[in-house]
Amino acid sequence: MRLPECVRENVSLAPMTTFGIGGPARWLAEPADRRALAEALSFARGAGARIKIMGGGSNVLVSDAGIDAMVVRLSPKGEFGVMEQDPDDPLAWTVGAAVGLQALVGATAREGIEGLEFLAGIPGSAGGAVAMNCGSAENGIGRFVLQAEVCRPDGTFAEMGPAELAFSYRRSGLGGSIAVRVLLRFDKVGDPEKVLDRMREYRERKRAGQPLAIPSSGCIFKNPPGDSAGGLIDRAGCKGMREGGAEVSSLHANFIVNQDNASCRDVVTLACRVRERVEREFGIVLEPEVALWGEAKDFGCFGGHGHVDK
Ligand code: EPU
Repeated sequence: MRLPECVRENVSLAPMTTFGIGGPARWLAEPADRRALAEALSFARGAGARIKIMGGGSNVLVSDAGIDAMVVRLSPKGEFGVMEQDPDDPLAWTVGAAVGLQALVGATAREGIEGLEFLAGIPGSAGGAVAMNCGSAENGIGRFVLQAEVCRPDGTFAEMGPAELAFSYRRSGLGGSIAVRVLLRFDKVGDPEKVLDRMREYRERKRAGQPLAIPSSGCIFKNPPGDSAGGLIDRAGCKGMREGGAEVSSLHANFIVNQDNASCRDVVTLACRVRERVEREFGIVLEPEVALWGEAKDFGCFGGHGHVDK
């Protein structure tokens, strides 16, 4: 079978993740338009390959052995990288899934659109942010999503509305569909200077409280209902705990940082130790917030309870 133009074989995923960890993908597809995306998916079907969708690579831990699948990463070089404010309705924005989340946050703020300031400083792509309803503990980007244009695994395109998208804490109903473009609708236009100030405030707060300069995948565990994973890990005395090149951040305990060429194995071993300590101290079992890509055996107790994405 001929390899489509946008597909490469055996490509290391580590440089594509903010963690800087992980082995190769059997195939990596980087389509810049819908036709190329459908072609890549058709190739994957022919090869019997699983599909994994990567946004900005900021919320994924890839196994050291890599992943026997086709990873699809939409290229921002074509239609997926375009963002537009509706000229007749300034509150309506159509945003390509490969647009950077910070480009979106900045562009809306400059137009005085209120609502996305709380996402300032979060890496990743707009599509990835929507797929996992990224945000803070109580607020997610999903509340602004009116519609998502998606590519189904069979290569057909469809539209999904809020009922089907069913956003909840760090979840959406996208399932195996790939969001290629989203329609966002905001509530209010205000003074751009004030919105930009709020955006900067959020960014500064994040910079002060999170180790943003060191490679990581952001928060490693989900917040358990009504509690804070970072607070629990901190009180269990885990800050500074180390395994190989991986370390529990001393700034924010729910970050495992890649201090020195950490392997996926280092991170997994450390996360299991943290999880066990928190369970012993408080009787609470933490669940991974980061997507785990690889075989279940590569993630040990960290990937228990079916958290490894197959
Ligand atoms: N805390 C500690 N020690 C720590 C870290 C936190 O005691 O080392 C305490 C804080 O003092 C605070 C509470 O825990 O009272 C909550 O901490 P924080 O305000 O940092 O928020 P969070 O619940 O830990 C959530 C998201 C973050 C997001 C922030 C924005 C989750 C798992 N985390 O963090 O998301 O940036 O809110 O406010 O939902 C991510 O998804 O990767 C991520 C970093």
